[in-house]
Amino acid sequence: MSMQIRTFEEYKAVYQRSVEDPEGFWAEQAGSFNWRKPWDKVLDWNFRDLDVKWFIGGKLNITENCLDRHLAERGDQTAIIFEPNDPNGETTTYTYRQLYEEVCKTANALHAMGVRKGDRICFYMPMIPQLAIGVLACARIGAIHSVVFAGFSASSLSDRIKDASCKMVICSDYNRRGAKNIPVKAIVDEAVAMGCDSVETVFVHQNTGEAINWVEGRDKWWHEQVDHQQPECPAEEMDSEDMLFILYTSGSTGKPKGVVHSCGGYMVYTCYSFANVFQYQPGDIYWCTADIGWITGHSYIVYGPLLAGATTVMFEGVPTYPDAGRFWQIVEKLKVNQFYTAPTAIRALMAFGDDPVNKYDLSSIKLLGTVGEPINEEAWEWYHKVVGKEKCPIVDTWWQTETGGIMISGLGGLSPMKPSFAGYPLPGIQPCLLDGNGKEIDGNNVEGVLCMKYPWPSMIRTTYGDHERCRQTYFSSYDNMYFTGDGARRDENGMYRIIGRIDDVINVSGHRMGTAEVENAINEHPKVVESAVVGYPHDIKGQGIYAYVITLEPVNDLEGFRKELLAVVTREIGPIAKPDKIQVVSGLPKTRSGKIMRRILRKVASGETDSLGDISTLLNPEVVEEIKDGAL
Ligand code: PRX
Repeated sequence: MSMQIRTFEEYKAVYQRSVEDPEGFWAEQAGSFNWRKPWDKVLDWNFRDLDVKWFIGGKLNITENCLDRHLAERGDQTAIIFEPNDPNGETTTYTYRQLYEEVCKTANALHAMGVRKGDRICFYMPMIPQLAIGVLACARIGAIHSVVFAGFSASSLSDRIKDASCKMVICSDYNRRGAKNIPVKAIVDEAVAMGCDSVETVFVHQNTGEAINWVEGRDKWWHEQVDHQQPECPAEEMDSEDMLFILYTSGSTGKPKGVVHSCGGYMVYTCYSFANVFQYQPGDIYWCTADIGWITGHSYIVYGPLLAGATTVMFEGVPTYPDAGRFWQIVEKLKVNQFYTAPTAIRALMAFGDDPVNKYDLSSIKLLGTVGEPINEEAWEWYHKVVGKEKCPIVDTWWQTETGGIMISGLGGLSPMKPSFAGYPLPGIQPCLLDGNGKEIDGNNVEGVLCMKYPWPSMIRTTYGDHERCRQTYFSSYDNMYFTGDGARRDENGMYRIIGRIDDVINVSGHRMGTAEVENAINEHPKVVESAVVGYPHDIKGQGIYAYVITLEPVNDLEGFRKELLAVVTREIGPIAKPDKIQVVSGLPKTRSGKIMRRILRKVASGETDSLGDISTLLNPEVVEEIKDGAL
């Protein structure tokens, strides 16, 4: 891969160049793709009004770069290895040619069902190859995919379908997850029934074959529509700035917003970052354990690896089924070379001890990666020693749904490593730290709010249907800056350590959630008057969810009430948002202007009751004692 950096010295030189001549640098990277028509201008940008455009005037189709481009050279090379949930099930593979044909057939089927360029298509699928195929089929014909993680509830799914007015929902009959089969078609039926008038078709892939409800006229089987299609499908010509996909993510206020990524810049950046961070070499087997319902799956299971011509693994199951050795069994079986997972999975597996790891031959692994949340030193050391046998570099990759690709990370094996530090920015990425007044903090050994002062190709372009909200959320806190929501520190060598969110976003097992969203769900319970949700340190999940709840009348059956609240949250958002601790209180600490003092609630939830600070300015200081006494 021509664009791969191979030494740390080279990284420094390339980085320098990327800052001095960003447009020249990115034009060079973009030059290695197939464009139907080259761009007229590399970049136009204005953060204040939020108007960012990359590779202006360029025409392309990303699937021609993921698939067609590889056929001549590596048509028979494996593109996707699918490892099913059942450890005795059959591993299946798709070569680049087979994947190309499946994508074309599926694209033809979508087209035959009336899907056209610009239509929004929602996915609610398990981690099976048809999800990747379906997503690429949309991109092939210019339809915009919106993948919703299949752990979300019908209500959350419905909100997302409505927000983007999706024309079609693609799902399976049932999803396999560990020992359970989950009736996802039934969840889709329920979601669509909640007023999703835009949905014309529910397109169902038969996965387990169990019985499902069928709506004549609306529902269509995947195999009946796809199998007879031609294995060739002309790709729609897309503008660089045409929308490629929408992916919903949580912020500190309101409902989740649809982050929009566009075709050209996303293509260039995900490929470039994949090749460099993972130092992928031809023939390597790369495995990212994320779900395609999250950005990590979009960028580093599907698009990045396929653009780079890599072999990418898709795993349907969960890390602890049938036992805690599952990941390592798969690594041994498939001879995985790059393994990329989340700190929460590492911590969960670490709790089972070293034996489940040591049972397997992990000598194929050349590189380990982590993503999604800060990794604590203990987990980092365990990953390094027990999984990596102290011979594999670890890349701690910091990025976000909004950034589209990895922003701060070591380049595997080239960069210095320091536990819990993400490290240095990738070429083209210009981070900075700001103080409380929004002034940039120079020098090293400093801490502040992490922002970006220059655009990069895969950055968020808008939030679907609400451009102003996007501008407000990310570009108005600090002048002429992209605001990440994270706090960070820069050490004496200029390496970055991500400290965590400084807004009301929490990160539970690597799942991003707005505390307001969880509160809104809890408040749906008829006995709840008000609630406040904060994160607190949790050994496995990174952060746990602590809910303070004011009830209409005293609660006698606390356990029963707790269960009811968990059920409400599961119904409104999904099981991932269930509070770990629920404390019933008579009041919440408020400022004189009526704002909840979350700082105090966070301290109590974290067990730091000795350092609550000044509470005398509160409207109701007396409530603090009660909350402290009742802390869980
Ligand atoms: O707080 C940071 C944390 O995850 C947030 C982004 O979440 P999401 O959009 O769901 O994307 C996750 C996968 C890219 C960030 O604002 N985060 C992500 N990666 C790291 C991290 N925190 C520390 N270290 C990381 N490597």
